[in-house]
Amino acid sequence: MKPKTSKNREKNDYNYLKQTDGLLLLDKACGFSLVRHIGRGTFGAVFEVQDSTGHHLSIKKVLQDPRFKNRELEICQKLDHPNILPLLHYFFTKEGIRPEIYLHLVTPLFPMDLSMYLKLIGPPSNYILKAFAFQLFCAVSYVHSINVCHRDLKPKNVLVDPGSGLLQVCDFGSAKSLVPNEPSVSYIATRNYRAPELLYGSTSYGTSIDVWAAACIIAELIIGKRALFLGENNDGMIQSVAQIIGSPKPEDIKAMKGNKPYTGPYIPPVKLSVVLDNYNDDQMVDLLSRLFVYSPLKRMTAYECTLHPCFDCVKRGEVILHNGKRFFPPADTKTNFGRIKTLASTCYI
Ligand SMILES: Nc1ncnc2c1ncn2[C@@H]1O[C@H](COP(=O)(O)OP(=O)(O)OP(=O)(O)O)[C@@H](O)[C@H]1O
Ligand SMILES: [Mg+2]
Repeated sequence: MKPKTSKNREKNDYNYLKQTDGLLLLDKACGFSLVRHIGRGTFGAVFEVQDSTGHHLSIKKVLQDPRFKNRELEICQKLDHPNILPLLHYFFTKEGIRPEIYLHLVTPLFPMDLSMYLKLIGPPSNYILKAFAFQLFCAVSYVHSINVCHRDLKPKNVLVDPGSGLLQVCDFGSAKSLVPNEPSVSYIATRNYRAPELLYGSTSYGTSIDVWAAACIIAELIIGKRALFLGENNDGMIQSVAQIIGSPKPEDIKAMKGNKPYTGPYIPPVKLSVVLDNYNDDQMVDLLSRLFVYSPLKRMTAYECTLHPCFDCVKRGEVILHNGKRFFPPADTKTNFGRIKTLASTCYI
């Protein structure tokens, strides 16, 4: 049998989802009814559902392809932080004529992700931007503290509730527990958010790839209408990064542990505040300038970012949301959403 490429696998899954769209197969015993289809990712679909008590929740349905290692469930079960989308429940179904197994991840429902926020509401005020950035670094810092690397941070994988200001990171479909000296594929993360060590082909990268991606998300919130680094392909991204932070020095190339040299011309760095559309918050620019650096070892860690003075206003409760409410960062408790600590129930349809 001809092996499926990721492109035609995506197409086949899409056809399948199209046929069953609005028909999320749910066993009555699971107690959920479908409300609407809210999104489609590379490997699955996300639905809004209602539970037996009338609560609206989200279900992400992911095809369990036996040829690919699926670490999402295992990692989601480990995570417990107010800025990470909590897994409330999960179950499997077996569907189709040649039955395939689908994993269903049940989580709280959010009104939007950061990419929708930019489209629907527009760039956030500087205070709201800092509230989002702070929570993003808290989430990333926590994930890294348990040695997990998200590997696909981007605006679409960050959920927000404009009414409460809460931000939660979602989609651990590419996440991995990094083991020192164990190589990882460099073809990971979405193009515009790929750290330079990935662009240069490193297979021994660390959690600092997430910090680069988080910085890209913040830059995009500042600019409001496009990503900071834009490229049609890997080489285009290398050029785009060089045009902003300057071309890499030989010691940068060494520090990135890639498998290719920089072959372009010498390019000097440009002023970050200027490429951020003349953004004038010096403290935030200072933080970002410590993140947009080639050497992963010189890049600040997510934890260090949470301590940066630019977030003092967030910690002091000075952020006012769109609705006039004051935002306080969620307390670092483990019971925030009254998580349902049920273990998996498996129901095959
Ligand atoms: N709990 C939720 N509440 C509201 N929307 C959600 C929720 N979870 C996911 N979504 C929406 O569904 C989209 C796809 O979800 P997710 O990123 O988890 O799936 P994916 O298949 O891994 O996506 P991709 O491969 O495109 O990154 C998200 O970008 C977001 O817009
Ligand atoms: Mg996603």
